[in-house]
Amino acid sequence: MNIGIIGVGYVGLVTGVGFAHFKNKVVCFDIDQNKINHLNNGDLPIYEEGLDEYLEKAIDSNLISFTNNLDDCISSSDIIFLCVGTPQDKAGAADLKYLIKAVDDIVEVAKKDLILVCKSTVPVGTCDKIEKRINLSNDDNRSKFKVVSNPEFLKEGTALKDFLEPDRVVLGIDDSDYESSKVFFDLYAEIVSDQSLILVMPRRDAELTKYAANAMLATKISFINEIAVISDKYDADIKNIQKGIGADPRIGYEFLNPGCGYGGSCFPKDVKALINKAKEKNIESYVLGAVDKRNELQKKYLADKVKSFFFNKENVTVSIWGLSFKPNTDDIRCASSLDVITELLDSGFKIKAYDPISNASVEEYFNDIGSDILSFEINKYDALKESHGLILLTEWDEFKSFDFSKADDLMLSKNIFDGRNFYDKDEFLSHDWKYSGIGR
Ligand code: UDX
Repeated sequence: MNIGIIGVGYVGLVTGVGFAHFKNKVVCFDIDQNKINHLNNGDLPIYEEGLDEYLEKAIDSNLISFTNNLDDCISSSDIIFLCVGTPQDKAGAADLKYLIKAVDDIVEVAKKDLILVCKSTVPVGTCDKIEKRINLSNDDNRSKFKVVSNPEFLKEGTALKDFLEPDRVVLGIDDSDYESSKVFFDLYAEIVSDQSLILVMPRRDAELTKYAANAMLATKISFINEIAVISDKYDADIKNIQKGIGADPRIGYEFLNPGCGYGGSCFPKDVKALINKAKEKNIESYVLGAVDKRNELQKKYLADKVKSFFFNKENVTVSIWGLSFKPNTDDIRCASSLDVITELLDSGFKIKAYDPISNASVEEYFNDIGSDILSFEINKYDALKESHGLILLTEWDEFKSFDFSKADDLMLSKNIFDGRNFYDKDEFLSHDWKYSGIGR
């Protein structure tokens, strides 16, 4: 099929490269000329496992191209996937200005009938709004549009795999729109192993499903984070509690790892947007409000532990391993590291930080801080030099191996603050380290 992608951010890129992998002809549009030039040369603006290799293959087979000419994208496509950002506005709602602008521009240049697919995360009722807007601006001489919702469930770090082997495909299609249903069943037939994984439902349901999925996952995380804080105060070990509750299949083990709060481009923004959407109907989101609040507190929790551990903060240097919001991504949006660093700097700590790929972006974020106060090191052991304690914030694989004798030689005192309960506590204790985790 001929597919157009509007917006080559994270979702657009993975979607475009993914569809090209299944032999669809994909043209991606973005207003950022610089980005387009790089992409046509196979240079990715983001780090995502496997994406570079799949992009190169798609370019070599002539199945994907990138343009900043909207007409080129629209005229060569039958299905257009809207993948533009829907950032958080000041009130916490999803800001639809980029999406609306994209729709208006598409309507303006389209010369044939098209299916417009909303892949961007949008509040319930947005597809209806888009349709109304198109109908208002449309006269009989213009192209006809069908509007479909097809939310993404891509996790950063495994996004390509999630696209190529989805656990489900949610399609919001109006009851009467059999034609679009057929097109989508054909499109996804290649991708899903079993047609029953394609869940067709009304558009509003699909839109709300996306928010409900992220809100549910965020709720699990905030729940376990709160239990971990209680566990800490009563000298219990959250690891045992996780085992004890996860064994119940109704609860399960997934997404029950306590930490320094959830980050990234989705959970924080989507939970707030859903709260906001409920408020529009005078619904007070007690559960989601608490999920959000716990997350804010959790981001400060480890920093508070570090602060209360060290008596004289002025002369204390701490090391931080891991800065991205989770492993296998360079994304630092809403990363806990930003909160932890801010808190510690405000209290007078000196920090040596290291992340396998996110050093530069965090350095840019704190660009007004001198390197004598906050430095970014080129390897994990350099970050331990003359440090009084190590803070683990992101559980990258490369942090698994821990050379105790090397660390002991480099550090001034042996303290670990394990923000992801990543390490074996007993092993650290047996090497005369003081260990402090989240809820253990
Ligand atoms: C999420 C959803 O998982 C995905 O389906 C959706 O499409 C986009 O949002 P992503 O933001 O990439 O994906 O990351 P995810 O793996 O879900 O983790 C989000 C945050 O939760 C990270 O900060 C992670 O460290 C944290 N987390 C996750 C926990 O603190 N504990 C857990 O048990 C799991």
